[in-house]
Amino acid sequence: MSTLITNVGELVTNAPPDVGPGGGDGAGAFTSISTAALVMEAGRVAWTGPASRAPAADQIVDARGRAILPGFVDSHAHLVFAGERGEEFAARMAGAPYQAGGIASTVAATRKATDPELRAGLRRLVAEMLRQGTTTFECKSGYGLTVPDEARSVSLASEVTAEVTFLGAHIVPPEFDGDTAGYVDLVCGPMLDACAPHSRWVDVFCERGAFGADEATAVLRAGQAKGLAPRVHANQLGPGPGVRVAVQVGAASADHCTHLTSSDVDALASSPIVATLLPGVEFSTRQPYPDARRLLEAGVTVALATDCNPGSCFTSSMSLCVALAVREMRMTTREAVWSATAGGGRALRRTDVGHLAPGARADLMLLDAPSHAYLAYRPGVPLVAAVWRDGELAWGSAE
Ligand code: NIG
Ligand code: FE
Repeated sequence: MSTLITNVGELVTNAPPDVGPGGGDGAGAFTSISTAALVMEAGRVAWTGPASRAPAADQIVDARGRAILPGFVDSHAHLVFAGERGEEFAARMAGAPYQAGGIASTVAATRKATDPELRAGLRRLVAEMLRQGTTTFECKSGYGLTVPDEARSVSLASEVTAEVTFLGAHIVPPEFDGDTAGYVDLVCGPMLDACAPHSRWVDVFCERGAFGADEATAVLRAGQAKGLAPRVHANQLGPGPGVRVAVQVGAASADHCTHLTSSDVDALASSPIVATLLPGVEFSTRQPYPDARRLLEAGVTVALATDCNPGSCFTSSMSLCVALAVREMRMTTREAVWSATAGGGRALRRTDVGHLAPGARADLMLLDAPSHAYLAYRPGVPLVAAVWRDGELAWGSAE
């Protein structure tokens, strides 16, 4: 069964040579076709081009001049947790600083929760993401911090995504207070053994108050030895060794990148690593935004993601991240949309998502708007009218 979506006002393809099967070099570029059409078949994009040249198909959808974009690729999210921290947020807005230690309160609530409670919370967030156009997402553990609680976190995450990240090294839990080395041994040993079968990635919060360079490197190397690929929470709360560690171990992505030195930027620019910026965090912690322009001008590949978590940023909205990137970080609307789609695909080392070239996964969204720019032009407005995943309508309607 083939489906033709025609009369598309703007079809954002992010097509090769910047992205596509086989990948590409450099930061990649936004590409689009006006008055376009797209055919999907067997879960994949089969054809794109001008509507006037569209081939016949079994089923026709009329986009009536609206825009079609690749589904968002949210490459950084913490979705397995219990409890909430609304009061912490309110206190922060009243002047209290954000500190890594807030994570411990979510750890306590998560340990107490049953599997069905955790699963229900996770599925609610996944449904919320889909309604907002996110068709691929990464999901981290990191609020269990015992062997069984981390193992169930990655196992639950693997029920909803292939992009599961083991984040046992999120913080040192209270029972290991004063014994970071003992906790790192647990993470690198029995915890990793229990989590690796359900995970694709290993991550570490490399930050003052969490894990230092040597500890982070030990965790990431141990994960690599078990077949997991590294990604790093780097330079979020202040300058530090996170980016350097990420580059040294060959991580797919250095995430946050809020406080970078010139040598961090140079290191990112001379490696294939993606800098994943999470502007919802700066919004929700009232911090200065990362310098996206400096990274882009240095030739670094930039991704945008939500970091959805109950502490530093409780949004699942990639549209909000695009709007913040444009308004607050001076990314163009094209750069921001590329980074939230193809950039996320790069950060997850995926060539099948984040673009709509023939052969790509048919993961896409219809906006109630004529162009991608409306994501920033109409901030806060639910513009996603319909979402297709693997070529099937997964949410909304094209009417
Ligand atoms: O990415 N930085 C570490 N982890 C999360 C925050 C988690 C929390 O505050 O619960 C982050 O911002
Ligand atoms: Fe995070």
